[in-house]
This record gives sequence, C-alpha cells and structure tokens, in this order.
Amino acid sequence: MFNVSDIRKQFPILKRKINGKNLIYFDNAATTQKPRVMIDALVEYYENYNANIHRGVHTLSQEATEKYENVRNTIKNFLHVSEEYEIIFTKNDTESINIVAYGCIELITEESNIVLTDLEHHSNIVPWQILRKYRKFETRYAKFTNEGYIDIDDLVDKVDQNTKIVSISYVSNTFGSINDVETIIRKIRQKNPDAIIIVDGAQACGHFDVNITQINTDFFTFSAHKCLGPTGVGILIGKKTLLQEMTPLMGGGDMIKTVTRENTTYADIPYKFEAGTPNIADVIAFDASIKFIQSIGVENIKVYEEELTKYMLEKLLDINFLTLYGSKSHKKRLPIFSFNIEGVHSHDVGTILDDFGIAIRTGHNCTQIIMNELKVNSVARASLCFYNTMEEIDIFINALKEIKKIFR
Ligand SMILES: Cc1ncc(COP(=O)(O)O)c(C=O)c1O
Repeated sequence: MFNVSDIRKQFPILKRKINGKNLIYFDNAATTQKPRVMIDALVEYYENYNANIHRGVHTLSQEATEKYENVRNTIKNFLHVSEEYEIIFTKNDTESINIVAYGCIELITEESNIVLTDLEHHSNIVPWQILRKYRKFETRYAKFTNEGYIDIDDLVDKVDQNTKIVSISYVSNTFGSINDVETIIRKIRQKNPDAIIIVDGAQACGHFDVNITQINTDFFTFSAHKCLGPTGVGILIGKKTLLQEMTPLMGGGDMIKTVTRENTTYADIPYKFEAGTPNIADVIAFDASIKFIQSIGVENIKVYEEELTKYMLEKLLDINFLTLYGSKSHKKRLPIFSFNIEGVHSHDVGTILDDFGIAIRTGHNCTQIIMNELKVNSVARASLCFYNTMEEIDIFINALKEIKKIFR
C-alpha cells in the first residue's frame, strides 16, 4: 500500500525548515531527494569496505568489486534490459550522451544528418554541436506540439537514408510530457533501419515502468541523482554490438588490455568506457535507491504522481494570472509544471517562494530552444515527486496568490 506519510519518513531532509517553514521541495526535476537507505549504503561503503575495485586480491577490494558489479544487474532488472545491452557507469546523463556522440564520429560523413528535437535539454544538443569541429554534417530539429510533445510526424519526416543518428528525450524537463518513444523508434526504424537511436531518459526513470527492451532503443542515458540516487553517477545503456565498435571518449587505467609505447588494446565492454577509478561509493549506493523504488513499486508511484498531477493542474488552471506551458491533461505526463505569473519575473517568483520554504527552479531549464519557441526568457518550474503531498500543493498555490498580491 502506498502511504505518503510513511514514505516521507524515509527522507531525512524532508524534516528541514527553510525560513522557519516546513520545506516543500518542488525541484525534483533538477535533482530528487535521497532516502535514508541510500545515505546508509554510502556510509557503509566508506566505513566497512572502502577499496579500489578490479585491482586487488584482498578482501575489501573483492567485496567492493562485487557490490559495484552487482549494480549493473539491479539496473538491468529495474529497466528490463535484455542481454543485447551493456550497462556503463559514467558521471551523469550528460557524460553518457557525450560518450555516444564521440563514439559516433567515425560514422559521420558530409552527406550525413543528425536528427534532434526542439524539446531537448542542452545536454542533448551541445555534444552534437561539438562534433561539428571534427565533421561536417547537417543537424535537423523536429518540432514539438502545443502540448509539449515531440511532433512525431515532423520527426519521422526529417529522417531519411542519410540520417545517422536520432537523439530524443523520453520526458521533457520543461513540460513533463512523456513522449511515446516506442512508437517513435518503430517509425524511425521503418524509414531508416540503420539510424542509431538515443533516448535521453534523464527525467523518466523511477516515475513509471521504463522498458528498454520494449522501446528497442540503441542507447539510453540517465542520471542516478534524478532517481533518488547520489550525484556523480550516470548510466549509459547501449547495444553491445555498437559499443564494441565505438572508440571510448576517455583513456587511462582500467580500460585497457595491453599498453605499449605505440599502442593500446582496449578492455572488453563495459570496462572500455570506464577509464580510471569510477565513483565506486555512489554507484553502490544507487543500488539502494533502486531497491527502495522497487519496494514501493513503480506502478504505485505512477498512480500517485498522476493524482498529484491532476490536483496541481486543477489548481493551476484555476488561476487567471498564470500561464501554464504544455499539456493541460494529467495523462501521459509527469508532475513537472512550467509557468509564468503575469507581471512577475520568474526569479522573483522563485525568491519569494523560498521565503515560504518552497524550492522550485527558475530560468530556462537548460532548454533555451523551448524558451525561444515560447517567446519567453525564463519560466518558473515546479516539479513534484512521490513524496510530495496534496497539502504541499495547497500551500504552494496560496503562496502564488500572495506573490501576485505583492506585485499588484
Ligand atoms: C531531459 C534532461 N536531459 C539531460 C539532463 C542532464 O542531466 P545531468 O545534469 O544529470 O547530466 C537533464 C537534467 O536536468 C534533463 O532534464
């Protein structure tokens, strides 16, 4: 049974007061809060078996190696990852995308094009632009709809026989829209079976059942810190056949088979892409976050977050001085709400909300292309997670009304 007050007790930070008020944390799309079990796992590593991995024959190193390696299985189980794929640990979603972009350079010729969308986070735009230093190619951007979803027809239209890469977000960090990536990928493959497809899953994992095998993407990326995990851990899931061919972005220890003065042969995947000492402690702690989510049940989380979305939408749509961007329906979306208040800059909204103990994001959300399309410089963004409550939404809505009064 889903009991939000029991769940909240598992997150130590939710007891905090901000400016004398109970913390209302509505900045979950930036990073989520951490459950006690994850914090304990982190401390346990440092207190009980801190050692470097893959290198030592001693007990501590073996224990650490085993725990670290097991997290790959936890992720495979969590996201339904078939044997066709390998899991690579990086430092964040951004690094995961950069690894794929760099690894694809050799495929690109002057005739090639890469298809992105106007919906993307800068992390899924800038790495592809950096490639232009090394190769000439065309970049095409598919539009998004008024509801904030990838315009599927426009995207598929932009794919042709010269498309080498299509890189799209699963969930928009500005609109909260959940794109139907399974359909999108099927349509792309019908048109060009050779295009490499990347799904930026930064906002997806932990909110609904993500099934990598079913969506049949070539690569999938996300960050642990947006999924109740620690900062400093990213995940890259990729088809083994592609990863085996790709040149690693970084070289160094742990990723080699042999090194001579002239040459290096790389270790097998996943190690080829994990140069240097990885973030052992945080990877291991992420295991606890995933198991915590599984113990609650992603389906329960989905249902509850949908209720939060519905409630928040009703309240927001009732405010006549507020512009809400994106979909007004609670279906096929997460509780991520970007809005502006008439006559008040979003930074002022964020600053005053902080006086009420409420944390939100303000600015362009690392989506300047979306801001240009919406013809705004910035938005206020409230993003909720399953430990938030209807009561918090009421306090938030009243605070918005107070802000409007202040600026009258
Ligand atoms: C959709 C999307 N992609 C990529 C990122 C980048 O994630 P990170 O900063 O953890 O690399 C974010 C972070 O906000 C995001 O929302």
